[in-house]
Formats: sequence, C-alpha cells, structure tokens
Amino acid sequence: MRHAYTAPSMQRKGVGTRLLRHVGSVVDKPILIGTWAAASWAIDFYRRNGFTVVPDSDKGHLLRTYWSIPARQIETSFVLADERWMKTQ
Ligand SMILES: CC(C)(COP(=O)(O)OP(=O)(O)OC[C@H]1O[C@@H](n2cnc3c(N)ncnc32)[C@H](O)[C@@H]1OP(=O)(O)O)[C@@H](O)C(=O)NCCC(=O)NCCS
Repeated sequence: MRHAYTAPSMQRKGVGTRLLRHVGSVVDKPILIGTWAAASWAIDFYRRNGFTVVPDSDKGHLLRTYWSIPARQIETSFVLADERWMKTQ
C-alpha cells in the first residue's frame, strides 16, 4: 500500500484503528509501516495499535528494501513493525 489516510472530518473516531485491524485480519504476513519521524501523532496512533518503532540501525535497510524513496526521506522517516514482524527478528 502506498498511502492510507482517514478523511479529516472522520479522524479520531476509531476509523484508522478499525482499518488497521481489518488489514491485519486479511493478511498473514508481517506488516511494516513507514511514516515521517516528525508525525508524532501518527507514531502514537501506531504504538497504541501494537506497533513498535524499529531501531535506527535497522530502519535504513528496511526502507531501501521495501520502499522506493530518496535518501533524504530515509533520514526523516520512521519504520514501525507489528508483532508478527518483531517475532521474526
Ligand atoms: C493518523 C491517522 C491515520 C489515524 O486515523 P484515525 O482514524 O484518526 O485514528 P483513530 O481514531 O483510530 O485513533 C485516534 C488516535 O490516533 C492518534 N491521533 C490521530 N490523530 C491525531 C492528532 N491529530 N493529534 C494527536 N493524536 C492523534 C491519537 O492517539 C488518537 O487517540 P485519541 O483520539 O484518543 O487521542 C489519521 O489521523 C490520518 O490519516 N491523519 C492524516 C494523515 C497523517 O497524519 N498521516 C501520518 C503521517 S504520514
């Protein structure tokens, strides 16, 4: 998936949480999410949904492997991983 947003008028009403749970229920593979490091609200949202921020030492490798983004965006991004991913590590 390239992007996923909740429409502004519907934010903070549980839509994002339900969407994330739905995705988790229809895939059996680990889920990694990339977001801007400055988006603290989004990082809180993913943490509250069971995701863990991947250490900086692993982030660059993951972003280069699974994303197509410029080097500057790698520096300013965080990767969050679900429980399935963490168990594989
Ligand atoms: C981040 C996003 C996907 C969350 O979806 P959502 O439908 O609002 O999420 P939920 O209602 O399930 O969860 C809300 C929780 O997320 C966090 N959160 C979401 N928006 C927030 C905001 N503007 N400020 C602070 N916390 C926020 C909070 O922990 C919030 O819980 P609270 O309302 O009890 O404080 C949605 O807000 C969004 O699309 N935002 C715009 C795009 C964006 O910021 N993307 C991330 C950076 S690329």
